[in-house]
Amino acid sequence: MTSIEEWKSKIAPNVLKEIGFKLGQVIVDFGCGTGIYDVILSTIIGPKGKIYAIDSDEKGLLSQLYSEIDKLKLQNIEVIETSGEIEFPIPDKVANFILIYDVMHIINENDRDPLIKEASRMLKKEGIISYHATHVDGKNDEFIQEIHKLMQNNGFILSETLKKPMFHWSWIQDSWIFNYRRKI
Ligand SMILES: C[S@@+](CC[C@H](N)C(=O)[O-])C[C@H]1O[C@@H](n2cnc3c(N)ncnc32)[C@H](O)[C@@H]1O
Repeated sequence: MTSIEEWKSKIAPNVLKEIGFKLGQVIVDFGCGTGIYDVILSTIIGPKGKIYAIDSDEKGLLSQLYSEIDKLKLQNIEVIETSGEIEFPIPDKVANFILIYDVMHIINENDRDPLIKEASRMLKKEGIISYHATHVDGKNDEFIQEIHKLMQNNGFILSETLKKPMFHWSWIQDSWIFNYRRKI
């Protein structure tokens, strides 16, 4: 079994590049938790890029991100601690990517549509919403179909489907990532 340390150093950087992350990008990570993806993405996007790491921090996971930012002197991550509201102090049309990783199933059902509308507001025209599906049974799971529909209703179409080793809770598992772009 792959250890989390091995995944972070040897596997995740390539997986994230395959998903589409690149130098200079602006990323919004909704429900960032410990910020495990943000610390790796910080190097990929470099000093000209920026990450807005958002979390309501009910489980106190953000402390791990703060300590990594401190320890590694990461300058391109801004942590936004919220009270769970779906409205973020981030300008319009700045983001190349919105991450919704292992969080869509947790948020209130009524918050899902406002979240995609807020994502759409923050995204650049050619930006991507990237969704990591967890707690699902295969890529045709009913919940995933609902998310595809929600994206479609907000003007986004599925552009890439990937199955990759991803972090989930405290282990690494092969799981589905769906990238959505605006319908032109
Ligand atoms: C299971 S963790 C996933 C963390 C991270 N995205 C990952 O993949 O490792 C879900 C996170 O979403 C956060 N969260 C849940 N509802 C939220 C909301 N309405 N606003 C902001 N963060 C929220 C939780 O506090 C938690 O840290």
